[in-house]
Parts: sequence; structure tokens; C-alpha cells
Amino acid sequence: MTTAADQVLKGLFSEAGLDDPYRYYAELHRLGPVSLLAGTGSYAAVVTGYEAADQVLRDPRFRVTDDAYTDERSGPAWRDHPLLAVLNNSMMYSNGSRHSQARRLFHQVFTPRRVAQLEPDVSRLVDGLMDGLADRLATDGQADFMTEFAYPLPSSVVAALLGIPQADLAWFRPRVERINDFLDVTGKSDEILAAADQATVELSEYYGSLIAERRTKPRDDLISQLAEAIDAGEHDVSDHDLICNLMVLFNASFVTTIHLIGNGMRLLLDDPALRRADTDNFVEEVLRYEAPVQFVARFAAEEAEVAGTVIPPKQLVLVMLGAANRDPRRYEEPQVFDAGRPEIRPLSFGAGPHFCLGAALARAEGRLAFPQLLERFPSLRAAGDPVRNPQQFLRGYKSMPVAT
Ligand code: HEM
Repeated sequence: MTTAADQVLKGLFSEAGLDDPYRYYAELHRLGPVSLLAGTGSYAAVVTGYEAADQVLRDPRFRVTDDAYTDERSGPAWRDHPLLAVLNNSMMYSNGSRHSQARRLFHQVFTPRRVAQLEPDVSRLVDGLMDGLADRLATDGQADFMTEFAYPLPSSVVAALLGIPQADLAWFRPRVERINDFLDVTGKSDEILAAADQATVELSEYYGSLIAERRTKPRDDLISQLAEAIDAGEHDVSDHDLICNLMVLFNASFVTTIHLIGNGMRLLLDDPALRRADTDNFVEEVLRYEAPVQFVARFAAEEAEVAGTVIPPKQLVLVMLGAANRDPRRYEEPQVFDAGRPEIRPLSFGAGPHFCLGAALARAEGRLAFPQLLERFPSLRAAGDPVRNPQQFLRGYKSMPVAT
């Protein structure tokens, strides 16, 4: 037996839903803030209401799927896969003290001050990429904004933050993408996992040698400071834990911010009047309107009630950030892009203990990139239809032709 929400989710996870998930979210909103599922894979409920999603993300009864959960659900075989072992050892998939240990280590070095210090580097990287975009526009008459700008910016920024040489990024990107291919809900074939495992092994070795190098010759970068903090003995975090967390941090920063930049550019191309909007509000409204991460998962450690719906123990819930950001109970005319709306505060960076570690950095990238782009390319326009990223969970574009 399936529920009404199962039917809507079937549409959502189809081509039509990839194109426009928002009409399915609107249907789910009509069913209520939380809907039980009976026939959709491993999930017992879908949470679409803003308040309900915020509650689930902050409620300690709801946890991320950690190693104990994965053991219980599917046995210990996942441990043989380097990718799954790395993910489950990272903060993103840890609960309780292991999670807080890793967060504390990163919080000690990845501070608001460090983000502010990085801003001139971000502006310089934006300038460099705009030169490349200008060259491509001059030689070909048009350019792919995603390839020339939106994809390379976030990885260059996180590389500058961590201390990964920019020259190594060309080697890095395909490996990170192989991991990312596996993380999409629809793409879990054995071949995809094997490729992601191989990429994980290579990236772990890379990080291992970079950490060793920074120990002997420290620099003013995050990897040097993280290694130093571990050596000071104040954190119960090993080098292996550090490598797992660095891999997840790099991936989390790269695959998400691309879409903040791409989705924002698409909105600016579609409606040039938006170019006059306040930049901070514009970035916040882009995050609300087109959340780069559309959903996250949690399981109920014990029976838990959310917005009047009882979630049974050990069951997974799908927390739809993209839907919560368009909850009509929270936002007036949620389907309208309005950079002037008050109190935007989208759930795009999550909430609670796993709230995005890089939110300030991602916001800074948007805040710096859009005005620089508009100043340098005042007549930038769409030069054809953009192609969507085929992943449901990361909402954005694969390519976006532009011209001047
Ligand atoms: C627009 C860009 C970004 C978006 C939309 C985004 C979104 C998110 C979301 C929704 C979560 C919570 C996951 C959950 O609750 O299960 C998260 C966690 C995380 N993000 Fe981001 N992120 C972005 C950029 C970044 C950047 C730039 C970095 C690093 C520099 C980063 C690093 C992380 C890390 C390490 C976590 C895990 C935190 C934890 O589990 O405690 N993210 N992000």
C-alpha cells in the first residue's frame, strides 16, 4: 500500500521532478509538514514544513546515519569500501562525541576571522577566472559560465583555504567528481562505487603526504594549523580522522557552492532588474529559492513525534530543505523570487549540530563574485538554454552558455 506522499515522491524523483521539483513540494505542503511514506525505498517519512525540518535537524533524537546505524541496517561489508569508511568516519556522518570532537578541531582553526582574511584571495581568484571567461568570450563569441567560472571558483577557494596548491586542482577535480557521482541517490551502481573507492584511496594518500609536508614546513594554511592542533594533544582526533574530514570538507564545499553561483547567475540572466538588488539579500534569496542541497537524511534513534506525526524508531526521514524554503506557512508567495523579503533565513545550510561549517565562506564567495561579475560583464546574457545537473540532491546546472 502506498500513501499520497509516495505518489508525489514518485513524480519528484523523475525527469519532471528534476526539471521542476517545486510543484511536487507544493503538493507535499498541501498534505502537511510531515508525511508518512509506505512504498518509497528506505524512507519512512518526508519532512517538508520549515518548522518541522528545523525541529528534526536540531532534535537529538534524529541522527545522521553513522557507522552503528549502517552496521545494523546493512551489515559490516561497507567497511571494505574506502569511500564508505571515510564518509562514516567524518563529522558529516558521526553523532555525539565523535562529531563534536571533529567539529571542535575545525572550529578552532576555521574561524570567522579566517574567512574574512581569505576574502582578498577570493576576489583575486574571481578576477583570474573572469580573465579566462573574457578570453573565451573573445575567441568563441560565447562561453560556458559553469565550466569557466562556477565550477572552478569554489574548488580554488577551498584549496586556498586548506593549502592545496592550485596546480594540483586539475588532478583533484575528477576524483572529487567520482565521489560525488556515488553520493547522488539515483547513482549507486557497483561501477560507480568502485570508481569512487579508487578516487578515495588516491585522495587519502594525497592528503596524507600534504599533512606530513606541512608538519615539517608549516605554512599559513588550514592543514598546517589542523596538524598543529592535533599535535598539541588537545583533541581526540587522529591523522586518519583528519584526512576523512578534509576529504568530506573539500567535497562539501566544492559541489554545493558551484550551484549557489550558477543558480544566482541564471536568475540574473533571466531578470536583469535583479542586478540592482542588495547583494547580501540577493545571495540569501538565491539560497532560499534554489537550495543547492535539496535534502538531507536522518534516522529516528527512538520514536519521535514531529508536527503531530509519529516517526517509528530506526526509521529514516527525508528532510527536504528545498521544500522547507518554499513553505507557504513560512514565506509569503514562496514561489516568487524576492530579494527584498524580510527575514529570509533559508534552511539551505541545514540547522542544529551539523549546520554547514562553510556557510560563512560560501556566502562570502557569492557576496564577492556576483558584483565583480556584473561590473566586469555588464551586458552578459544567456546564449542558449542551460543544461541541468542530473542530480536531484544537488540542484543546479551542468552548463550555462553566456555571451556579451
Ligand atoms: C552554498 C554552499 C553550501 C551549501 C548549500 C551547503 C550545505 C550544507 C548542508 C545542508 C549541510 C548539512 C548537512 C546535514 O545536516 O546533514 C552542510 C554541512 C557541511 N558543510 Fe556545507 N554547504 C555549502 C558550502 C560549504 C563550504 C564552502 C564548506 C567548507 C569550506 C562546507 C563544509 C561543510 C561541512 C564540513 C559540513 C558537515 C558539518 C557537520 O556534519 O557537522 N560547506 N553543508
